[in-house]
Amino acid sequence: MAAYSAPPSEVLLSKRVQEMVLHGEEPLGPYICRSGEDNDGKEDIMDTSPIPIIDLNLLSSSTTSDNEREQELEKLRSALSSWGCFQGIGHGIQTSFLDKIRQVSREFFKQPMEEKNKYAKSVDDFQGYGADPVPEQGQSLDWSDRLFLEVFPEDRRKYNPWPQIPISFREVLEDYSEKMKMVTEITSKAMAKSLKLDENCFLEQFGKQAQLHARFNYYSPCQRPDLILGLKPHADGTGYSIILQDEVGLQVLEDGKWYTVPKDPTALFVLMGDQMEVMSNGIFKGLVHRVVSNSERDRISVAMFYTPELGKEIGPEDDLVNMDRPRIYKKVTDYAETHWKFYQRCLRALHTAHI
Ligand code: OGA
Ligand code: NI
Repeated sequence: MAAYSAPPSEVLLSKRVQEMVLHGEEPLGPYICRSGEDNDGKEDIMDTSPIPIIDLNLLSSSTTSDNEREQELEKLRSALSSWGCFQGIGHGIQTSFLDKIRQVSREFFKQPMEEKNKYAKSVDDFQGYGADPVPEQGQSLDWSDRLFLEVFPEDRRKYNPWPQIPISFREVLEDYSEKMKMVTEITSKAMAKSLKLDENCFLEQFGKQAQLHARFNYYSPCQRPDLILGLKPHADGTGYSIILQDEVGLQVLEDGKWYTVPKDPTALFVLMGDQMEVMSNGIFKGLVHRVVSNSERDRISVAMFYTPELGKEIGPEDDLVNMDRPRIYKKVTDYAETHWKFYQRCLRALHTAHI
């Protein structure tokens, strides 16, 4: 993603939603997303119960019995091949620490615009505070503001867009990033084992210089949640993504219906990006998801995007290609860049990886 080519400079950055809300400006036009084709009549289900829950501790701990581990691995395989996501518990990170990262995120967005704008990104920047550039005619904007930062590989970490207030921000994010790296190791190994593959195969595809990007999302309250989305439907261009939320709002598309991801302050929500679908030769599903807006509450989330090393070719694992399951995807390099070009036009890029 870092090698992404900048849009032409006449493309304007959109306004900060938080500032518009503060000034009592709530323009509808460019934000309307839910009527018409974006919603395409898919049913909105508020029932959160069916979203799979996976206990990562059962997958990684040496004290788990073989039987228990096998059962949880099977649950994982089934979750990722039907839903493409799971609510992860037993990840070993204290809830008090998860509360800390939620809190520094809230504190950052709570500050006056002048303070946040010190970290504003220009149209050409990828890192920093802001939102996507104003899209081409006819595409809608999201009712959210963001702070996007690269955290791994460490030598690509540039601290100037990292907030200095709250003062603990840097330390908390560094700590969180280390913990997320551990979660990606456990998850990548478990995913491989669930498919009866060598446990390191996905980690090797991601590479030693695998990328981890943090995106702090702030969803302001919105007077027209019936028309406006916090984040439009999309699949991530990542390998996979790990989302921490405070309030409900995230929904996933499964079998033509939108399901709300439950609020669980102890959980990390893991969702497959397009590149995991490629590496698993289509067994795991890159998940379409969106964020609905809410007229009463604001919401924050921290999304960690785990993506293969820059310039590294990835593709379906050889052992997942056979007579019954022919190769569906070709090898791709820097798919996240292709993803981004399509994303800006509200399109999915996965077809570009099809054979
Ligand atoms: C994203 C995303 C979900 C959320 O940032 O790509 O899907 O809950 N975020 O904010
Ligand atoms: Ni996403």
